[in-house]
Amino acid sequence: MARIVTVAQQKGGAGKTTLAAHLAVAWAKQGHKVGVVDIDPQASLTKWFAERARVKDAIPIELRCVGGWRVQGEVEKLSKLVDIVVVDSPPHAETESKIAVRSADLVLVPAQPSPMDLWATKVTLDLARAEKRPALVILNRMPARGKLADQMRSKYAELGTPVADTVLGSRVAFASSMLEGKGISEQGGAGAAGQEMTALAAEILKRLDPAQ
Ligand SMILES: Nc1ncnc2c1ncn2[C@@H]1O[C@H](COP(=O)(O)OP(=O)(O)OP(=O)(O)O)[C@@H](O)[C@H]1O
Ligand SMILES: [Mg+2]
Repeated sequence: MARIVTVAQQKGGAGKTTLAAHLAVAWAKQGHKVGVVDIDPQASLTKWFAERARVKDAIPIELRCVGGWRVQGEVEKLSKLVDIVVVDSPPHAETESKIAVRSADLVLVPAQPSPMDLWATKVTLDLARAEKRPALVILNRMPARGKLADQMRSKYAELGTPVADTVLGSRVAFASSMLEGKGISEQGGAGAAGQEMTALAAEILKRLDPAQ
């Protein structure tokens, strides 16, 4: 059976779709069979996936774009075909998001260093707790160091859910590679952005399966 990770965060624009796309490619590049499920009516991940058709030698990834009552069934079906399922959810905590959280082995919660993100993260972590699913906060667009980085890390740590050791900086390469339908791991000269995503992908797998 596949590992299922659901990217959830009530706050819009926190980096859910960015994280889902780049993690999917990072894991696929390492040789895992990966499927992505887009349950957001905005269908951003689906649009990125459509761009992939033009990428030469794109690493194969499965996509399912579903909503409503079909979410759980599609996630279950896909999980029989691949090793890792990544679900990208919309910026609210309504039925589909709840179902996606319920299906997850781990809920990934991207959060930026802002008070609004912090407050929304609490709501998302409560949802994961209500569904009895483990969660991992992923600090996104973090300054490398300084007062804000320290302040935010300690505030997020107070929420009582693990915070990933790997943080993502604010890096244009994450957006520009997606514009071409790529993940940062298949972008030549990806630099710091590529290193961060590779490290994060490894950290998440380790948390999913500590024996690895
Ligand atoms: N680490 C990052 N560095 C630079 N840009 C980023 C980073 N993470 C996200 N972004 C940018 O922030 C914007 C929002 O990201 P994204 O669409 O992934 O968020 P989202 O949580 O999926 O939004 P929504 O709630 O609308 O679904 C996008 O323009 C994306 O390119
Ligand atoms: Mg999104």
